Amino acid sequence: MTTPTTIVIFGASGDLARRKLIPGLYNNFCKGRLPMPFSIIGYSRSDIPQADFQARMCDSVKEFSPSSFDETKWAEFAPSLDYSAGSFDDDVAFDKLNKKIQAIETELGGEGNRLYYLSIAPRFFRPVVAQLHEHGMSQEHNDLWRRVIVEKPFGHDLASAQALNNDLHKLLDEDQIYRIDHYLAKETVQNLLVFRFANTIFEPVWNRNYIDHVQITAAETVDVGHRAGYYDSSGVLRDMFQNHLMQLLALVAMEPPTSFQANAVRDEKGKVLKAIRPLTDETIQTQSVLSQYDGYLDAEGVAADSKTPTYAALELYIDNWRWKDVPFYLRSGKALEQKATEIIIWFKKPPHLMFPIPDDQEIASNYLAICIQPHEGLHLRFEVKVPDTDSDMRSVDMDFHYSDAFSKAEIPEAYERLQLEALEGDATLFTRSDGIEAAWTIIDGVIQRYASENAPAVGRYEIGSWGPSESDDMLGKGGREWRYGCGEHS
Ligand code: BG6
Repeated sequence: MTTPTTIVIFGASGDLARRKLIPGLYNNFCKGRLPMPFSIIGYSRSDIPQADFQARMCDSVKEFSPSSFDETKWAEFAPSLDYSAGSFDDDVAFDKLNKKIQAIETELGGEGNRLYYLSIAPRFFRPVVAQLHEHGMSQEHNDLWRRVIVEKPFGHDLASAQALNNDLHKLLDEDQIYRIDHYLAKETVQNLLVFRFANTIFEPVWNRNYIDHVQITAAETVDVGHRAGYYDSSGVLRDMFQNHLMQLLALVAMEPPTSFQANAVRDEKGKVLKAIRPLTDETIQTQSVLSQYDGYLDAEGVAADSKTPTYAALELYIDNWRWKDVPFYLRSGKALEQKATEIIIWFKKPPHLMFPIPDDQEIASNYLAICIQPHEGLHLRFEVKVPDTDSDMRSVDMDFHYSDAFSKAEIPEAYERLQLEALEGDATLFTRSDGIEAAWTIIDGVIQRYASENAPAVGRYEIGSWGPSESDDMLGKGGREWRYGCGEHS
């Protein structure tokens, strides 16, 4: 018999478990990728009989992964789903949970490996890890592993992230901790590594000699909705920049790692994040824009005088040889015109143009648009001659669309990949303590400065727009403009 694996989901009655975690595990099971034998135990405060829990999870898979639901497969999967009720600091309940795991392990063939998934509010991270430790549930021995996946947000600022890292490190080794950033599990984000480091044609121009600037956009059409209470204490800088945007920046800007090992990749990401120049009281005035969509203050749970930004744009610089003086423009917001996550590598113009063009025109720059969602693919924009003219030029697009090259079914949900990587002990797609802290250093610096008297005001933007005009002005001062490079694709 092979070693059993138990996956415990703390917060099993929550939204994430329903929408992503159970559908992800079920899909991995259907693809034959879960380690066998396995069991999954949901843990949360509500008292739910096992059969009800299975029925609820069945409904979740039907709702959130309808194309993969299959009655026969579900009937094979469901018996592995168990449930244990308790609060997150309840000694007795953890003892009961441990005994349940042990009983299941015995049934499955002996003591096994364990993956604990903390899909819970951050204030419970410490109590759960402490309980696991006290009950001997997190100590690795006899080649049996114990891993803990920690959901975001990881800290509310730099100091709290450092404190959380320190506390976790007292009870767990760094390599037992898997901090999630679900952007790192998106196929197109992972493809950035392959695109940059499995091809030779792009890397020679991937530097300050050829690149004018880089734009990273994560635009959303949704507003804060029912999460207004949480969101108002967080805002776009904590919710999207500290994690997702900084990770995208790190992948675009890092030096080539020597291997595809977790620490080799995370070392390079850490180095580039640490090389970002912090904004100062002076540069914050011209290199940042924070704004709120109209009507945000009316949402339930939002303070009447809230200054929480739902949109931000930053102009950052990386002080190293590759990127010195190349602006990285990052923007993200809610209630915008389109849902679009993309990275644009904007190249410099030719140093000398031999073709005549009218005085009031300029030659267009080449750019590479890396489209992360929803139209996953790559677009390379370059100039061509218009037929039957002397030397008229026009910009055209060379496209690659994932949906043309691969069937849609081949792009799995981000959480599926993360679950597998954690089960396999590969932490490449998870953030390490130093990376988290480096990202917080930059973003917390911006947040702190906005709390001071001399900070620029948090503006307003129209729902359904592309954000505030101040953001356009920020790029405009350098003669640049935001670009939506991925377009529609049917
Ligand atoms: C989450 C944020 O991390 O990412 C949300 O908390 C945001 O506010 C979401 O909506 C966006 O993720 P995705 O995968 O839809 O781009």
